[in-house]
Amino acid sequence: MNLESHNNYPKDADSLVLLAEDAGGELSGPAAIQNAQAKAFLSQLHSRGDLDTKLHKINTFYDVPGIDIPIVVVVGGGRKAEFDAQAAYRAAAIAAKVLSGKRRKRVVFDFGNLPKHIARAAIAGSLNGCVGQDVMKADKSIKPFDAIAWIATDESLLEWGKIVGQSMLLTRELVNLPPNMMYPEEFARRAAAVASAEGLEIEIWDEIRLRRENCGSLLAVAQGSTRPPRMLVLRYKGTRNTPPLAFVGKGVTFDSGGLSLKPSESMLTMKCDMAGAATVLGTMQAIARLKLSTPVIGLVGLVENMVSGASYKLGDVLTARNGKTIEVLNTDAEGRLVLADVLDVAVQQKPSGIIDLATLTGACVVALGTDIAGLMTNNNRLQEQLQRAANETGEEVWPLPMSRHFSEQVQGKVADLKNVGDGRWGGAITAAKFLEEFVSGVPWVHIDIAGPAFYDSPKNFQDAGGTGAMVRSLVTLVESMGAP
Ligand code: BES
Ligand code: MN
Ligand code: ZN
Repeated sequence: MNLESHNNYPKDADSLVLLAEDAGGELSGPAAIQNAQAKAFLSQLHSRGDLDTKLHKINTFYDVPGIDIPIVVVVGGGRKAEFDAQAAYRAAAIAAKVLSGKRRKRVVFDFGNLPKHIARAAIAGSLNGCVGQDVMKADKSIKPFDAIAWIATDESLLEWGKIVGQSMLLTRELVNLPPNMMYPEEFARRAAAVASAEGLEIEIWDEIRLRRENCGSLLAVAQGSTRPPRMLVLRYKGTRNTPPLAFVGKGVTFDSGGLSLKPSESMLTMKCDMAGAATVLGTMQAIARLKLSTPVIGLVGLVENMVSGASYKLGDVLTARNGKTIEVLNTDAEGRLVLADVLDVAVQQKPSGIIDLATLTGACVVALGTDIAGLMTNNNRLQEQLQRAANETGEEVWPLPMSRHFSEQVQGKVADLKNVGDGRWGGAITAAKFLEEFVSGVPWVHIDIAGPAFYDSPKNFQDAGGTGAMVRSLVTLVESMGAP
């Protein structure tokens, strides 16, 4: 997909997406401006009630008089105050998705002049709405546009929207690839390709190195699979001479649950369990392309959680890289075991802060639903920075309390720790309390993306499957850290 910037509508476009705002019942925004050109056609439709400006309403018109582009999709922007970055991302994505049923040469987006963060989100949305989850299907049901043209948009905003939108598409593709094709070694290969294309340093730890590094917790999860595990360390140097920010991702390329086997319905979507790792890789790509000033390290732990005679067992006691011993009480609580060792490697890099991304618990989805990521932290400042970034770019992240009493639930009787709490209640928080045992007091934010990383069914603004959740927020966070 080509992304172009135009001052006027290009002649050879096949579709136009116009934003229509609602100013006290009056048609307003770019659709109102085009109305003059269109011989008051749009305002007549509006007064008849055939053009709905409510947020995210889609109105499709053909051969509008005075407009040379044959298809005009008017998307409702609602009232100005409600058209924030999330509304803008979705408005552009919904319109793109509506048009993506057929191959399109050039689709023009005219959203008028929007504040920086809102415009950027909209551009990223236009790229993502017309791409589906059907990575392995020859005749795609959602067809990416050949070219997208944004009207009257600053070149730097367009560049940001393009880079971040494409990086979200990378994350989504990695998540959507089937688990027989996306396993630890393959993820490592893809990451190496990204690293060499973007000038990132990469270390790939194989199982020999992992053993030498005493990653006993990660290795235990991996041992039931014929696919060997990997850990990746990606480095972006930046231009500022400060300690790096570290991103850590859970990369379970398939989570069967292990001997604590998942029922089929829950196992069905478990190719999504490497979404944290895919988010880290997508974010690293975007940061490198945007040439941000803050140094960043990306670390991911890659394993497949499988069942075999070699699988780790209930009652096994593991020794993590930081020396703590862990009694395994449920092999389906594997993500925290993988992250335990990756977090310890991150700590050793002496980062200014650590942010981990993980499809960690169903409990977090029960708490917050499918569109809000859970945030758990030992540091309010880093939490606030991240929430501000998420808010600015239109993603939702909400804190869960890290009260002391949850820690007691992961203290072990047989070993230092146990890998599950006492029962299901507060499961997202006990998981976070387990992770906290491995961050050695470094400022840390854990983001549970089990809900927003992957949609079981399609939404109006995007197909089912991987979503690229949090890529925009993390990029915006790194950017805000480098701001003078
Ligand atoms: N990968 C799952 C969590 C998950 C659930 C991700 C739904 C995406 C959608 C994780 O490894 C897991 O199985 N967690 C268990 C923890 C429990 C055994 C303490 C869970 O949530 O049930
Ligand atoms: Mn699991
Ligand atoms: Zn898992």
